[in-house]
Amino acid sequence: RPTGVKRAKSSILKNDPSKKPCTATANMVAKFTRLILLQSNAINSLHVMLRDKRSTHVQFKKYADRLMRILAEEALAACTVEFSIVWTPTGAEFSGLRPNSNICAVSIVRAGDALLEQVLMCEPAVSVGKILIQRDESTAEKLPIVYYAKLPPRMSAFERVLLLDPMLATGGSVMKAIQLLLDAGVAERDIIFANVLSCPQGLESVFQAYSQIRVVTTAIDPELNENKYIVPGLGDYGDRYYNTT
Ligand code: URA
Repeated sequence: RPTGVKRAKSSILKNDPSKKPCTATANMVAKFTRLILLQSNAINSLHVMLRDKRSTHVQFKKYADRLMRILAEEALAACTVEFSIVWTPTGAEFSGLRPNSNICAVSIVRAGDALLEQVLMCEPAVSVGKILIQRDESTAEKLPIVYYAKLPPRMSAFERVLLLDPMLATGGSVMKAIQLLLDAGVAERDIIFANVLSCPQGLESVFQAYSQIRVVTTAIDPELNENKYIVPGLGDYGDRYYNTT
């Protein structure tokens, strides 16, 4: 058995990860009503593989894709607008929110493209937008700059806009992207930001600037380090996913 791997006691195997949220997580969930934190045993064990620094590129990609598929389904579920009652083949009624395909999925290149792929696997016909934002390393503040943006015309006609970026660190890039969507006519409350891993600093900044958006995430880690990486985190998502380390 590799170092650091222990056999789980049956009490841990039965454990529900949502029972013991860490303080940062609990504080964020209590503070922001438009924050949706996804929690399940599947999500927890996929996170173990993503966060393990020994995971190879192939392993990282496999588990990231599985986790992002869950995230994509939940983010799409957050885009629903229509309640529907249907009849099942047994003659009984079933009710719920009907999947909505009048949406636009906008990825923040490059890591957001991996999440976009999972959204398109679920809903192949959605319209797609792309935004490339990078930090200007020449300024002390390292301000994010929009290098490229291609959005469909008439953005306000979509019922929901899904903004996709797996990591929410300082929030600089996603705030720039949200502003771009607003400038294109999207209503703030129609924006749903889907991300794999967030942290309090990023959530605070984003919700302070844009209180009407919704955020769907699969984990909230406590802090950022001096290089603005999320801790404990998982390293650079794009580099690990695309094998460019
Ligand atoms: N982007 C990443 O890929 N990782 C972090 O920890 C923060 C931002």
